[in-house]
Order: sequence, then C-alpha cells, then structure tokens
Amino acid sequence: MMSQDELKQAVAKAAIQYVPVDCIVGVGTGSTANFFIDELARIKHKIRGAVASSEASAKRLQGHGIEVLSLNDAGSLPVYVDGADEITRHLHMIKGGGGALTREKIVAAASKKFICVCDASKLVDVLGKFPLPIEVVPMARSSVARQLVTLGGQPKLREGFTTDNGNIILDVHGLSIMNPVELESELDHIAGVVTNGLFARRGADVLLLGTAEGVKTMTV
Ligand code: 5RP
Repeated sequence: MMSQDELKQAVAKAAIQYVPVDCIVGVGTGSTANFFIDELARIKHKIRGAVASSEASAKRLQGHGIEVLSLNDAGSLPVYVDGADEITRHLHMIKGGGGALTREKIVAAASKKFICVCDASKLVDVLGKFPLPIEVVPMARSSVARQLVTLGGQPKLREGFTTDNGNIILDVHGLSIMNPVELESELDHIAGVVTNGLFARRGADVLLLGTAEGVKTMTV
C-alpha cells in the first residue's frame, strides 16, 4: 500500500513529461507542488526557469537553484502544474487550502495548460465538502461574510493567516456546489472578494491522479 506522500510523489514525477524543453514553467503551491518542485530540480538544466504562485514555492525553487521570474517578465507560459483540495471528473477544482489561491489563479490564467497533480483522496463527485477558501480585503470581512451566509454558506475566518497579498481568508463551510462555473462568477461579483477558490471557469486540462493502481491520466 502506497502512502499519500508516495502517491503525491508519483504524480509529481508523471507531470515532468508535460514540461517542454527550454520553457518557463508555472509552479503551484502546497505539498504536492513541493514534490513537483523537487522533481523539476532534476531537470533544471533543461528549463529556463519558473514562475511561482507563492513566496513559499519561490523559496523552494530558488533553494534548488532554479531561477524564479516574475509573471510580467515571463509572459505567457506553456504549462502550469499545481495540486487541488478537491477535483471533479469535469476537472473543476476547489483550491486555496494553502491560501495561495489568488496567485495560483493568475498564473493558471496565464498558462496554456493546467496540469493538476493529486492523490486519489482529492477526487469527488460534488465540490464543497472541503471548505471553500475566499480571499477578501480585510475591511470587507463582515460584509462579505454576511453575503456568503445569504448564499447558504457558513464562513469562518482563517485565524492568524494573512495572504501573500496582505488579505484575509474566509473558509466557507456547508456548500454543496452543483454549479461551480456559475458560483465562481457570482462570488467574484461580491465587493471585497479578491479571489474565490473555485477553479471552474478555467479548470484543469489534465488530471494526474495518484491511485493504488498507478497514476491515472484524466482529461475532459
Ligand atoms: C494551495 C492550494 C493547493 O494546491 C491545495 O491546498 C492542495 O495542497 P496539497 O498538495 O498540500 O494537498 O490550492 O493554495
């Protein structure tokens, strides 16, 4: 029986084949993305560098001697590799468990292909069991929370946490998300919401899922 970490490592390894030679790679955040960064280090002479979706990932990349570029300098990227907190067969995701959702959404949007790397526990039929992270401008905390309650959620402030962009995170419990594309847009229209953790309008293009039977590749 493979451990969860071994499954994450297997999908991180499998993601390397999606990295074109001589490119700048978009790199996500979290424990699975960390395994990917460690795999990327082995082929670092074959890439030009990386754009990171968090300070933490930038540090880890630099620790391996991989050049980290700003997205503004890098331009459009061929590929973005990141984990997810939940993902469906339609490759819609909840992300932001690590609080890096805003930069993740930006780097993903600037990338031609989103490769999602997950262990099997992340695959769900309906999104929402994992509390949906929403990054909010601090002064809008209460007003955004009230509007989230009217949508049927129970927002909880992520205590003691500030995002890389200086904002707070509300984790919304109790949502059963039947229409992730619609809800993503609706949440984005609440004044004070910077980014919500639904990645549905721009979902993943490829899911590499680590299972006991090996790495499964899924596309929509
Ligand atoms: C961070 C994220 C991560 O991709 C998500 O939390 C999954 O992390 P892990 O690979 O550690 O399970 O969205 O903001």
